Amino acid sequence: MNNTEFETKDNREQFKSRFGFIMAVAGSAVGLGNIWRFPYITGVHGGGAFVIIYLVSIFIIGATIALTEMAIGRHGGSDVVEAYGQYDKRFKIPGYLSMIAVTVLLSFYNIIGGWSIYYFIQTISGKLTGLDAAQVEAVFGNFVSNSPQVALFTIIFLAVNTIVIIKGITEGIEKVSSIVMPSLFVLLIILVIRSVTLPGAKEGIIWYLKPDFSKVTGSTFVAAVGQAFFTLSLGSGAMATYASYLSKDESLPSATASTVIIDTLVALLAGLAILPAVFAFGVSPGEGPGLVFVTLPSVFGQMPFGTIFSAIFFVFFFFAALTSSISMLEVSVTYIIENTNIDRKKAAIIMSIVVLLLGIPPLMSFGNWSHIEIFGLGLFDLYDYFVSNISMPLVGLAGAIVICWVWDKEVTKDETTSSGKVEFKLFDVWYNLTKYVVPILLIFVFLTATGILRI
Ligand code: TRP
Repeated sequence: MNNTEFETKDNREQFKSRFGFIMAVAGSAVGLGNIWRFPYITGVHGGGAFVIIYLVSIFIIGATIALTEMAIGRHGGSDVVEAYGQYDKRFKIPGYLSMIAVTVLLSFYNIIGGWSIYYFIQTISGKLTGLDAAQVEAVFGNFVSNSPQVALFTIIFLAVNTIVIIKGITEGIEKVSSIVMPSLFVLLIILVIRSVTLPGAKEGIIWYLKPDFSKVTGSTFVAAVGQAFFTLSLGSGAMATYASYLSKDESLPSATASTVIIDTLVALLAGLAILPAVFAFGVSPGEGPGLVFVTLPSVFGQMPFGTIFSAIFFVFFFFAALTSSISMLEVSVTYIIENTNIDRKKAAIIMSIVVLLLGIPPLMSFGNWSHIEIFGLGLFDLYDYFVSNISMPLVGLAGAIVICWVWDKEVTKDETTSSGKVEFKLFDVWYNLTKYVVPILLIFVFLTATGILRI
């Protein structure tokens, strides 16, 4: 079928099933944020104490904004710029901002996706077996500083993403997510069972989950809200774009609930898959790249049948990164299709090239450009800072304003109840949270994340 013909404004593709939509949205949400960030910040911010604060944040604030963004997107029935600006053109600006930010995010997310392919290959060819942390660190250092090699794996990762997007919403995104997400879950369960049954795993479970309220400070709350935001792919146009392809009959509140539950479950389980194993081998969990690409491989390298578990882990990691990346690319591809005569295939290829070029600075920041700093941040961290600390909270704030202060309440009610076809008992609670509480919290998060306000 000819894509240009197919995807006009009044005859857009739609997700075929509710399951497919939820898998796609959950695929966007479940990503590096769940595997890297969550286990680590939980340990640092008081284990179980943080988990409790996080659960409250994600169910109250995360779910609230996720629903807001899905409602904006489905009501718009178009790209993210059109969606935010549908009743007030000035709000096209956050639409553009989210599209730029999500493209920047993709440009460095891809690089990490590429790393997982490299590590998978290293693992199955036995090159990581039996190495201690110092040796794996050397492998890691040599790899990431070899920029042409990293570029190659980044391109492979991005190519898979591009192919899925070219296939379209149902044949590409929906199909891939419906297969990948359940498989990802199975792989994760295998890893959890292995990890918690290792001798000495208990200490890791304790570090991870024992509530330590003495570590809870003001910044814990900001970290919890920030994590809820990042892990649900909020403030970046992804939820709005996916929802624009959802049938008007489906229930947005229940899709939101399913997504939040799946994402939270995966985050909690990822911690159980990683931390007990790390402690069982007497190492302390590092942050960020170190945890997944240095500590873990050395742990796997020493475990019986570690090669198999390591391979499973990197496939799991690849799947999680891929389904998130897909949703990032779709944001700008949808925009191009809706606003130009360029078809899906060309749009996907053009955007992939843009993303690759944009990815050069963060990629080089592990190599020859490692000395370059802007505002005191390396290039990779600078990209992350712009996306996570500046753009996401601002776009989230704009979403809350749009749906509660720009739209008529009736319009909002109509969209969130699918014109009265589905029940939404908590409408008033959600509406008031979005209207009054969320904006204040997001301003607070923005001010602390950017260092304007210190707590
Ligand atoms: N939710 C993703 C994760 O946990 C990260 C993410 C943030 C994202 N914003 C996004 C993914 C937008 C896709 C689209 O890793």
